[in-house]
Parts: sequence; C-alpha cells; structure tokens
Amino acid sequence: MSERVPLLELKNIQKDFYGNRVLEDINLTLEEGEVLGLVGENGAGKSTLMKILFGMTEIRETGGYGGDVLMNGKKLNFNSPFDALAEGIGMVHQEFSLIPGFTATENILLNREPQKKSVLSEVFGDRLNTLDRKTMKQKANAAIDQMGMKIDGEMVIADMPVGHKQFTEIARELSKEQLKLLILDEPTAVLTEREAEVLLDSIRGMAKRGISVIFITHRLQEILNVCDKVAVMRDGVLIKEVPSSETNVSEITKWMVGRSVKTDGDAHRVPPETGTIMSIKKLWVDMPGEIVRNVNLDIREGEILGIGGLAGQGKLGIPNGVMGLYPAGGEVVFDGQSIPLNQPRKCLDSQLAFVSEDRRGVGLLLDESLEWNIYIP
Ligand SMILES: Nc1ncnc2c1ncn2[C@@H]1O[C@H](COP(=O)(O)OP(=O)(O)O)[C@@H](O)[C@H]1O
Ligand SMILES: [Mg+2]
Repeated sequence: MSERVPLLELKNIQKDFYGNRVLEDINLTLEEGEVLGLVGENGAGKSTLMKILFGMTEIRETGGYGGDVLMNGKKLNFNSPFDALAEGIGMVHQEFSLIPGFTATENILLNREPQKKSVLSEVFGDRLNTLDRKTMKQKANAAIDQMGMKIDGEMVIADMPVGHKQFTEIARELSKEQLKLLILDEPTAVLTEREAEVLLDSIRGMAKRGISVIFITHRLQEILNVCDKVAVMRDGVLIKEVPSSETNVSEITKWMVGRSVKTDGDAHRVPPETGTIMSIKKLWVDMPGEIVRNVNLDIREGEILGIGGLAGQGKLGIPNGVMGLYPAGGEVVFDGQSIPLNQPRKCLDSQLAFVSEDRRGVGLLLDESLEWNIYIP
C-alpha cells in the first residue's frame, strides 16, 4: 500500500469563542486537485474553520484553536495569513477586501508589484523602484484569463459591478504562483446565475491544474455540479462527508438542518389577505446599467415580493430608485403617503429600509457591532 499523504489534513480541530464551543473535533482531508464543498446553515462554523486554516489573527486573538492542521504531512503553525500564503493557501472572504480606489490590476498584484530599477533607486535603494506597469498588466491579465470572465483590469474597483469585484478577488489569489489550495467562502452569493456558472467552470479548471479548492456556498446544486465531495456541518460538528456523486440536494438539506425539509411546491407561501401597503406607479429609474421604464407594482401588507431577472434588466434599479439613490420618476405610495423620489433622507423617514446587493460597498454603517450595513429608518 502506498503511503501517500493528502495535501491537507485537519485533525480534531476545536474552537471556542469566549467559552462557547463553535467547532467540535473536526476531521477532514483533501487531496491535490480535489474540490470540497463545505455546507451548513448560518452559524454552523464554516467560516471559523476556514479562518483557522488561513491563519487569521482573529483566531489567535480569541485564544487560538485545538487540534492540528497538516499540509503534505507537515504540521502547520500559522501565526498570520502571511504564513498561510507562504504555504500556498489562498482565501476569498465572504466580505470584499479590495481597495476601492485602485484598479483591478493594482488590487490583484497588491504588495507583489513587479518593480523596475530606476536611476533614483540605483542611488537611494529599492523603495524608489518604479512599478513595472507592463509586467503588472500581463500578470493580472493572465490571472483574469484563467477565470474565463472578462473583467477590465484598468477599471477602478469602486466603478465595478459587484460580480466583477468578486472575480477580481479570485484573480488576485490565482495570480499567486505558489497557490495550492484556494478557499472560497460563499463567492457566488453576489453573482448572477451566469457569473456563477463561469466561476464553477473556472473552479473545474483550477482542479485540473492541481489546485485544491474548498468551496462554501448555500446554492447546493452548485456543490453537486462542481465538487468531488461534500462536507456538511451543523452546530460546529461535521455531520457528514460524502462523494457528490452519491448524494442529492434534499439529502444534503436534511443533514444541514437535522430534519427533512419539503422542497417541492408545498413550500409556497400563501399570499396574505391584506390591503396594499405599497404601490409603485409608472416608475422609471436612471441607474447606470439598469434601465427601469414604466414599472407598476402593488405590494400587500405582510407579502414577500421577489423580483427576478438577468443582470442589467432593471431588478436592482427598482429598489435603488424607490430609495432615492438614483434619479427616478413616477409615483410611489407607501401606507397612504406619497414617498418623495430622489430624496434618500426623506425615504429613510418613512419606515422604508434597504439592504443593498453590495452592502459593504454602498450600505451605511450605523453601528460597528452590527454585522450588516442596513438603512434603518
Ligand atoms: N469573532 C467571533 N467572536 C465570537 N463568536 C464568533 C466569532 N466568529 C464567529 N463566531 C460564532 O461562531 C459560530 C460559527 O460562526 P461562523 O463560523 O461564522 O459560521 P458560518 O460561516 O457557518 O455561518 C457562530 O455562532 C458565530 O456567532
Ligand atoms: Mg460564514
């Protein structure tokens, strides 16, 4: 029998936050080029486990962890993400970590910019090297090409649609030559269906090139489409590890929540028999990339209204227009009162709240202790 060691081994990983056990004896292995789907309800412990693996200071500052992390059979003792990077572990976090005023290329190569010697640096040392823009562009574009998603390397992050920001983060990790293991913490949450498909393709490409991937998502079908195996966590415990080919969405859901869940038509909500709380009449919105024309909608009290559609078809424009964030016209009546358009402050006074699709980017931070940035009236 061969004594091949896996790329990654997690042995008896435990983690407490202030006396609260959030990870209990996690054991997991990952082979080179293998794609693992990690699923579980919110709070199950997925991100915490990945933060341990990535050497995040948050873990050390909260008392460290129990158990061992091994790469190629060698026990790792991470003190910071730099140690993890040196071992070839890259991570794309749930929240963006890009610099908004920099271009995609600059973000991709941040702190690793190729430098050219200049006359000044010959005299004054490396700090005065000039950035080698041409090489930077080539390197960034090579990483972007690996993803199969056309993003503009020259575009400033702040001007990018949220999906492209996510691809920029991934390109940043792919541009690291020593990358062996990529951790993606809910990367598709902000992507459209089409963008998510491109990402799944590029995960397959990475696996072919021998990069191992840990992929966290709530979209379970994605797990089955792209992962070799699935690990299901619940309340800090690894409930199940199974090859993707041997399971299905409803079984995974059952493991996640600990009981069976109906996923067929029975789950439909019955619309409440209440009066109209909000009327949108002849709404137009002028939001870049999101044209809204002549939208009429009535929403009942207690009703949950879903607005679907492809990217750029106006579904984001509707709430952004109603909330006064982009020029809009028409009429919006809420609880018998006309809501003034184009005046976000007035909108906040009228019992309306808004969670943006890019809450870190455009949301208001009201309270540092809140995990979400929300508009609260
Ligand atoms: N820095 C922290 N301090 C205290 N508790 C935390 C911290 N980070 C996460 N937790 C708690 O640990 C548990 C697992 O959270 P997390 O790993 O983020 O779950 P998931 O990513 O699966 O949603 C949750 O109960 C969460 O509240
Ligand atoms: Mg998480």
